Amino acid sequence: MHITILGGNGFLGRKIAARLVADGALGGTPVSSLTLFDLAAAPAPPASFLVRSLAGDLAELPADAIPPGTSVVFHLAAVVSSAAEADYELGRRVNLRGTDAVVDACRRLPRSDAGPPRVVFTSSVASFGGGQGAVVTDDARQMPGNSYGAQKAAAELILADASRRGFLDAVSLRLPTVVIRPGRPNAAASSFVSAILREPLLGLRATLPVPDGFAVWVCSPRRAVDWLLHAAAMDTAALGADRGINPPGLSVTAGAMLAALDKVRPDASALVDRRPDPAVAAIVGAWPAAFAATRSPALGFTRHEGLAELIQAFIDDDLDATRQDRAALP
Ligand SMILES: NC(=O)c1ccc[n+]([C@@H]2O[C@H](COP(=O)([O-])OP(=O)(O)OC[C@H]3O[C@@H](n4cnc5c(N)ncnc54)[C@H](O)[C@@H]3O)[C@@H](O)[C@H]2O)c1
Repeated sequence: MHITILGGNGFLGRKIAARLVADGALGGTPVSSLTLFDLAAAPAPPASFLVRSLAGDLAELPADAIPPGTSVVFHLAAVVSSAAEADYELGRRVNLRGTDAVVDACRRLPRSDAGPPRVVFTSSVASFGGGQGAVVTDDARQMPGNSYGAQKAAAELILADASRRGFLDAVSLRLPTVVIRPGRPNAAASSFVSAILREPLLGLRATLPVPDGFAVWVCSPRRAVDWLLHAAAMDTAALGADRGINPPGLSVTAGAMLAALDKVRPDASALVDRRPDPAVAAIVGAWPAAFAATRSPALGFTRHEGLAELIQAFIDDDLDATRQDRAALP
């Protein structure tokens, strides 16, 4: 099967590519080729199958990014939360028109006996509102509190309609905040959620812009990748018209994360400074802190591990590479 990863040079795109290279197959079907598409060409990992890396803009998606015969498209390319809030035009262009371009690319594909390509879309917890008190049920309405969340919710609707029309076969995963993100702080308003764990593990100071009792809905990169691969391989007949999935993440407070950090690396949380930031709090404060996700486990999405295991997984998977990256690029 041919697979395309849009946003293949990003955090999750690289991790999916690495898993496909390691597994050589998706859902029991061997991978024959992989296309990585991003603004800057992703480094092509050595693989037993052909890997092509293309650079370009999602909103002007070239036809060869999703070539005839494509079975699965991971649509991860996006302008993330704070960046989409700061630059309305850019967010709309990439998150809305970019998703339209994915629909058009799938529409243009010659019809295949294997059916339309599976499109796995990364929607977000930010497509919901409700804030700290909310516990989001599987059939809750999406009432986003910022432009990024609105663009994600709108993209979900467009992909569900394109699925109904048979242009593609979408699964939209509303990902929790993925922690611990390797590398350095990014333009996501939730960047601090990873930073308060990652920076102390690197021996660096970090800032907590919200109170210790502030709760967030999180998942590990390992679970996010498992879920995305499951979404790519699952039988979508069970979804019917409802293509949006709330995966089984973890609701944790900033204080609980710091306590778990100290269990894994004693006293590491002493490197975290409490400094309230109203701008960050205004964005993340609108996101719901917990979900009652019952549909996704029933659909085969794996349940989440605990916080200590999540932190240890970062140490095992990403700490050395993050240290090297940060040393190379001060
Ligand atoms: N990481 C999280 O905590 C999280 C949580 C919820 C949802 N998501 C969603 O998951 C997806 C992947 O997240 P990530 O953390 O890997 O983000 P990321 O920023 O690391 O990766 C996104 C990639 O999209 C690319 N991109 C941006 N604009 C583009 C354009 N115009 N054309 C082509 N490529 C473009 C970027 O260059 C980047 O490599 C995103 O859609 C994000 O909104 C992430």
